[in-house]
Amino acid sequence: MLHHVKLIHATKSRKLVGKKIVLAIPGSIAAVECVKLARELIRHGAEVYAVMSESAQKIIHPYAMEFATGNPVVTEITGFVEHVELVGEHENKADLVLVCPATANTISKIACGIDDTPVTTVVTTAFAHTPIMIAPAMHSTMYEHPIVKENIEKLKKLGVEFIDPRFEEGKVKVASVEEIVYRVIKNLHKKDLSGKRVLVTAGATKEYIDPIRFITNKSSGRMGVAIAEEAEFRGAEVILIKTNGSVSSFVEKQVEVETVEEMLEAIEGELSSKKYDIVILTAAVSDFTPREKANKKIKSGQTLTLELVPTPKIIRRVKELQSDVFLVGFKAEYEVSEEELIEQARKQIEKAKSDVVIANRGEVAFGSEVNEVYWVARDSYEKFPLMSKREVAEKIWDKIVDMLG
Ligand SMILES: Cc1cc2nc3c(=O)[nH]c(=O)nc-3n(C[C@H](O)[C@H](O)[C@H](O)COP(=O)(O)O)c2cc1C
Repeated sequence: MLHHVKLIHATKSRKLVGKKIVLAIPGSIAAVECVKLARELIRHGAEVYAVMSESAQKIIHPYAMEFATGNPVVTEITGFVEHVELVGEHENKADLVLVCPATANTISKIACGIDDTPVTTVVTTAFAHTPIMIAPAMHSTMYEHPIVKENIEKLKKLGVEFIDPRFEEGKVKVASVEEIVYRVIKNLHKKDLSGKRVLVTAGATKEYIDPIRFITNKSSGRMGVAIAEEAEFRGAEVILIKTNGSVSSFVEKQVEVETVEEMLEAIEGELSSKKYDIVILTAAVSDFTPREKANKKIKSGQTLTLELVPTPKIIRRVKELQSDVFLVGFKAEYEVSEEELIEQARKQIEKAKSDVVIANRGEVAFGSEVNEVYWVARDSYEKFPLMSKREVAEKIWDKIVDMLG
């Protein structure tokens, strides 16, 4: 691996370590995104090989992809049978072919089994035994062409995974680099939660004082989003119930809520209509709400006394609705000793019948990218050292998978 590529390899995560990805680039203007895309895949640990159609080479120079990947770029199929080297039937073949940004032309050729460019030849060679993902990008009238549409449907039926484009400024723009990386990780990840249904909550609730003012807290939603995304990578069917000010997420099924009441309603709706295996309540829900909510903006320039009443304890509803669900609660305390933190977590285990409580300190956790947590069970506990919230999520799921066998 070239030195400058080594410097960025697996710096964001190790999710794609050991994975060889062929980035097959057709001639869409969005090919200009491929340098960034390749580098992001490498930052998550992948080894990337670029293949370019003749049209793609008129949009970006192969040198750019050589630089981005640190590997030779396939610009034509020669006597070295590059397509067989990359994706033929042998133990060194790539793990995934990602066609991005896919033109109408390349999509339709693939659907007809035509291979007359380096991109289409690689796809045809890979078709039978290697996952193929396609991220389209084209003008909207091309995307709406009935035959292009039919070809996309045909490929979906044959197991090709499409990463849907964004519709902006009348154009069908290729999905964002972040979304493509998310979907690639999801495709290649080990699936030790498949068949499990998981509910995760995330973010800070808002309790209104009047129509424009509310009580909230510093939670960003990052921890819950990391937990939900990790579960989705591992093959679980996930629902993420998240508050509207939280960080964004690519989890497929999301419900957005604002207040404690809405959060409770969404959880009750889910738990009374479907059987869940695991519930993880990461959201920082308000413990108090104003007794009275003014329906007009309260005038300024006066002293105001607010009377706050306790909100319903959402976590206690979970086992009432599904007694055999595996329940993980979060407990945040502020500037407390380890003993006190564990004691508070155990209280939640008693009251809510949680199976596990993840205890953490507000001064470390809130709004931050990292966290130091304790995994607290009824009669044991374990401290996870300070690490990124993504790593905390991985450790939590590893422990749950172990416990549930
Ligand atoms: C600057 C430029 C931008 C283009 N952008 C797109 C595009 O986004 N989507 C598309 O389907 N075709 C686009 N085309 C047209 C394709 O390059 C053309 O259909 C070509 O035959 C595709 O060949 P390929 O699929 O083998 O790369 C573009 C062409 C040029 C010159």
